[in-house]
Amino acid sequence: MPMKLGLMPIRLMPSVPLDSPRAWCLNKPMIHRIHDEELSKMGQNQSLDSNGMVKVVFYPEGRMSKVPKGSMLLAAAQAADVNLEASCNGNSTCGKCKIQWIDGAVTEVTPEERKILHPAEIESGYRLACATQILGDVTVRIGREIKQTTLQIEADGLKPDFVIDAPLQKRYLELTPPTLDDPATDLERVVRAIGQPLAKGNLLMALRNLPELLRAVDFKVTAVFEEDQCIGIEAGDTHNECYGIALDIGTTTVVLTLIEIHSGVELATAAAANAQGKYGQDVISRIQFSTQAGGLKQLREAIVQQINELITIVCRKSGVKREYLYELVVAGNTTMTHLLLGVSPENLAHSPYVAVFREGISLGAAEMGIQISPFGLVYIIPSVASYVGGDIVAGMLAIGLQHSASPALLVDIGTNGELVFGSRDDLVACSCAAGPALEGMNISCGTIAVAGAIEKVDIGPDVVLQTIDNQPGVGICGSGIIDTVAELLRKGISERSGRMRSRKDFLAIGGEDSLAERIKDHGELRFELIAAESTTTPARENRAIFISQKDLRQVQLAKAAIASAIEVLMKEKGINASKVAQVYVAGAFGKHLRKENLLRTGFIPAELGERIVFAGNTAKTGAILCLLSKEMRLEAEQIAKKTRYFELSVYPGYDQLFFKAIAFPSSHPSE
Ligand code: FES
Repeated sequence: MPMKLGLMPIRLMPSVPLDSPRAWCLNKPMIHRIHDEELSKMGQNQSLDSNGMVKVVFYPEGRMSKVPKGSMLLAAAQAADVNLEASCNGNSTCGKCKIQWIDGAVTEVTPEERKILHPAEIESGYRLACATQILGDVTVRIGREIKQTTLQIEADGLKPDFVIDAPLQKRYLELTPPTLDDPATDLERVVRAIGQPLAKGNLLMALRNLPELLRAVDFKVTAVFEEDQCIGIEAGDTHNECYGIALDIGTTTVVLTLIEIHSGVELATAAAANAQGKYGQDVISRIQFSTQAGGLKQLREAIVQQINELITIVCRKSGVKREYLYELVVAGNTTMTHLLLGVSPENLAHSPYVAVFREGISLGAAEMGIQISPFGLVYIIPSVASYVGGDIVAGMLAIGLQHSASPALLVDIGTNGELVFGSRDDLVACSCAAGPALEGMNISCGTIAVAGAIEKVDIGPDVVLQTIDNQPGVGICGSGIIDTVAELLRKGISERSGRMRSRKDFLAIGGEDSLAERIKDHGELRFELIAAESTTTPARENRAIFISQKDLRQVQLAKAAIASAIEVLMKEKGINASKVAQVYVAGAFGKHLRKENLLRTGFIPAELGERIVFAGNTAKTGAILCLLSKEMRLEAEQIAKKTRYFELSVYPGYDQLFFKAIAFPSSHPSE
């Protein structure tokens, strides 16, 4: 469809570097409307190449992509590997993909953008990348990009006692060199020493390398074993260099830890926002993207590349060479593991929601594109069902739920809430759509746990905030969102129905003036944590950080999903709250999540409050256990088989329980 209007391109002064502050002042963009004829004239001057491609440059780093004319800026950013946050999946509602236009022809500002962007921002050239089409070569400036290693790494949680007995082992061997009296082949010589044939999958590689390898080191070699099968031979004595990786692939974040196998010591960890996020924030949108032409390949390549980059980081941090990494153990939800293997998850989205596989699988790392030892392996922890994945099996392993004599509950609060209830006799699991609100997505000022994310909120006569790394506020992450909502309830700024009180209503119940001033009506009520004039980071310049009425509703829906699922599981098992020994809470929260606020917001029923245990990143812990212990790996397989999956939606009366759970608990004397 031809574009009616565009933005007049202006030229930058070439002698001033684009990323210098001076350049920015000198070249502050001016926006002019132009008419159809001007646009078509301008189109003739645009440097479209012969394939109809245009060039987009992203400052300050100068990354560049070529995309078809008419593409959205968000797509161009993805093509240039610029990781813009896109919480609403490009629906122009979250405002996270904001960029600043510098030069070149793009379409006019849309009504959706006018709802999100302040007029002063529009005047300064700010646009939503998901709403801006490219008409010629374009230069833009990005504000905040989701970068690797800037994520807060979850504090360590529970870890059961266990004995290190890793499937991965190395053994140093001194072979006898061949003589006329002993003319055995190189392969026979190796097989004789290790007492077994080489693993079939690696045989060809071994045969090609053996002659040179053996003779270069005077027949002194180290054999690498996985589950007692020899997977490779290395030159010399390397038996002390034995490492593996535990990987937690969450829909929102990826956490990768390098482990020394003999000691079990965690040498280095790196975390990042899942690189697939640019293709969709939740599993359903990623499944949808995977069905588009080339979509599955793009998703697989994004996560494989990210894993390789994170491996580079942990190797650099620890000084370990990547050729000494022999196994990578993956804990991920069922969709994530399908995408990692390039296996279509399409049927997970349609009734009867069937996965292609749910077993524990061991594959060659090289064939998956994972850059560790050439004969390294990748082990995928088994899943329970399509929506209760290997990350939850790892979680059960981490808290030892399979050995619990008394009923206990594991609640993993993420975009999908996953719950397991039971004891060693019977485990039942379910999942519920909690939505991404508590991972900082679909919330007006939500963010993942990056430096500057507000992670702790106290509201007294004034508002006291704590941000990650004490950096200037950029948004609110999961624990900060729960804190804020709990505090709004405690102070009576929100009613238990989830309705935010207007300034007048709040003052009428005796609310403090200093807090009333923070309640603003922008067509929708919001409570400001940081006023627009107080924001100091470029990403939020002149934009307040707040929780809106709509955000409150998102949290309410998440809370209703989790609370009603807990109730259904207890009913299903015929066990009331007084009999529940422990409630383990895992999830993507910062370290400041507070029990009292989980109770005040009603995520966990008050009767269970005393028994809440924060379990940390149980998916990562479970992956470490599977890496270091054959017994634990076997237990993971058994847990996956014996846990019953329970479909919430077929439970009689589930809808009523859900709606009953929507109201928050009563927290303020006015109610
Ligand atoms: S506004 Fe562009 S991705 Fe949300």
